[in-house]
Amino acid sequence: MITPVILCGGSGTRLWPLSRKSYPKQFVPLVGENTLFQGSALRMQGADFAAPVVITNSDFRFIVVEQLQEVGIDPGAILIEPEGRNTAPAVLSAALHLQKEDPEAIMLVAPSDHVVPDVAAFQAAVERGLEAVEQGQLVTFGIAPTRPETGYGYLELSEASDGGPVALRRFVEKPDAVRAEEMLAAGDFLWNAGIFLFKVKDIVAAFEAYAAELMAPVAAAVDGAESDLGFCRLAPEPWAKADDISIDYAVMERASNLSVVPFTGAWSDLGGWDAVWREGERDARGVMTSGDATSIDCSNSMLRSENDAVEVVGIGLDNVITVAMNDAVLVASMDRAQDVKKAVDALKANK
Ligand code: GDD
Ligand code: MG
Repeated sequence: MITPVILCGGSGTRLWPLSRKSYPKQFVPLVGENTLFQGSALRMQGADFAAPVVITNSDFRFIVVEQLQEVGIDPGAILIEPEGRNTAPAVLSAALHLQKEDPEAIMLVAPSDHVVPDVAAFQAAVERGLEAVEQGQLVTFGIAPTRPETGYGYLELSEASDGGPVALRRFVEKPDAVRAEEMLAAGDFLWNAGIFLFKVKDIVAAFEAYAAELMAPVAAAVDGAESDLGFCRLAPEPWAKADDISIDYAVMERASNLSVVPFTGAWSDLGGWDAVWREGERDARGVMTSGDATSIDCSNSMLRSENDAVEVVGIGLDNVITVAMNDAVLVASMDRAQDVKKAVDALKANK
């Protein structure tokens, strides 16, 4: 059995104004009818999977329960972080929680905000990773890169893969633009999909070896956790002493027992509106409309109304993103989609 561990703590500012601190992008149906979080949970259902462990913060706990109920999934556990300390403490707390029952348990750690439409291909890739997991490897999933993206981790393969797991030579998290270009040109790198498969005891051993400073505070937070209406609340005092660091920097860049399984199905991290537009349904002129939105002679654009009372009409637009909410409207050039986080910063500064 594989236990899904769904990381559900980010706030997704590049998808403002739909994604908010109080209701981030993973809980919104951005592409298709389910939310990204529901999609993530549904991808890890089936005979091989145990009930999922979700790790999130207190504000989202009821959204998590409600959205799982909507798609008929019972959570195995919902761990509540007193505050977000990034993915390393989150993953370690889930591992230590599971370790109490079974140190041999296999965890599949997945983000809550990705789109992976081909569930069968995804599950087949996970299946292929199990062989390496049995040998004590920490397994990552690799995506063929298409641009010198600086927001991802890069995986250097030790040899070509025939689809099965191969040892990783190096893991490089979020390179600068020059290194990203070099790795893309070199050809033997894949993007890190941000999905990890390993045994509880092996990831705990990796934390002990490479991020030992996290062990005491996170173990104390798990041991001191309080059970509250079915939620498992990690103890705030020790938790506050855990460093704010991602698992990529804390463990993956340092560990030597990494393997990668290439994943050739479609995958998107929906990092911005341009990605939502790329992944969603568009008409023949490349226009995506959603809600009460009408396009007249527009091309390569996205028109979105998130409020039944607001009609959005675009006329003759090219390369434009429009998102209308009750209390905010975004109008941006498609090429500037990654700068939307600046809107959030600017609004914060004005308040
Ligand atoms: N519970 C919890 N607590 N979840 C968190 C926290 C936290 O403090 N911080 C982030 N998450 C969740 C996010 O909601 C997301 O689902 C997942 O963990 C990954 O975090 P991101 O912040 O989105 O990471 P990233 O996109 O910058 O980088 C990671 O993903 C890339 C692929 O999308 C890395 O693993 C990269 O190497 C990888 O290429
Ligand atoms: Mg991400």
